[in-house]
Amino acid sequence: MDVIVENVTQIWTDRRRGEVQALSHVSHRFSSGRFSCILGPSGCGKSTLAQIVGGMERPTEGKIDIRSADGAQVAPGAASVMVWQNQNLFPWRSVLDNIAFGLEVAGVGRAERHERARAWTGAVGLRGFERHLPRHLSGGMRQRVALARALILDRPILLMDEPFGALDAQTKFVMQEELLRIFEAHRRTVIFVTHSIEEAVLLGDEVVVMTARPGRIKEVIEVDLPRPRRLEMMGSPQFAALTGRVLGLIREEVTRALAEQDRPDGAA
Ligand SMILES: Nc1ncnc2c1ncn2[C@@H]1O[C@H](COP(=O)(O)OP(=O)(O)OP(=O)(O)O)[C@@H](O)[C@H]1O
Ligand SMILES: [Mg+2]
Repeated sequence: MDVIVENVTQIWTDRRRGEVQALSHVSHRFSSGRFSCILGPSGCGKSTLAQIVGGMERPTEGKIDIRSADGAQVAPGAASVMVWQNQNLFPWRSVLDNIAFGLEVAGVGRAERHERARAWTGAVGLRGFERHLPRHLSGGMRQRVALARALILDRPILLMDEPFGALDAQTKFVMQEELLRIFEAHRRTVIFVTHSIEEAVLLGDEVVVMTARPGRIKEVIEVDLPRPRRLEMMGSPQFAALTGRVLGLIREEVTRALAEQDRPDGAA
């Protein structure tokens, strides 16, 4: 499914700060089956954009047009699922029942949802942990449950907002590899928000670089590294050239965002 963002502007009304313009005239086509990474300074509106695309918020201006391959229009939210950084699993539910949750809500019978949840438990490397409770898992394992819980819904659009942001470096590498493997097997439209230039280049078919707030699209870098991607590619000159280019774009914006933060009203 294609996600077409058309001229989206978002102004939040904040009790303390008044009006905050998070996004300014953002237009971009996230094409079907592509992995797009969104990168930009803190507070530039990345999460805002993800929420609007996911149908959780309506933009102040502009619109989101979601189209299936036959051209039919789909309501934002109906075709997507979101994975966040601080995923709240149900603490009283086992790994299996957390993963099966969405199917339960959808009315899928117990036997079928458990069978499908078991397959996804294996796909994210948690076989043997089906009966564990979230508190008995590490942070990385919990994030895998969150990933499986989203993927089991089989929605054509996967929105991820810094899903690996809270993980340690080694766990992050393992999760990135796992996500790459899953993406190869189950292609969908992925919109992945990150702060990491390396992560964006490793995972993405394109890196959408945003400006400091109010967020606009500064540039879109095509990542022409071959798939399947491997972590070893991070050592290649091509990888270094791409990250170097993205760094050049982002450096100026981060400096600008930090300067904005120094102003007490924070308004743009
Ligand atoms: N629900 C809301 N109400 C009011 N203001 C909001 C709301 N959500 C976000 N904002 C403001 O909009 C701006 C953009 O926020 P957003 O969370 O989209 O940025 P971000 O790029 O995701 O930042 P980070 O990288 O730190 O996660 C910020 O100034 C933020 O304070
Ligand atoms: Mg955010």
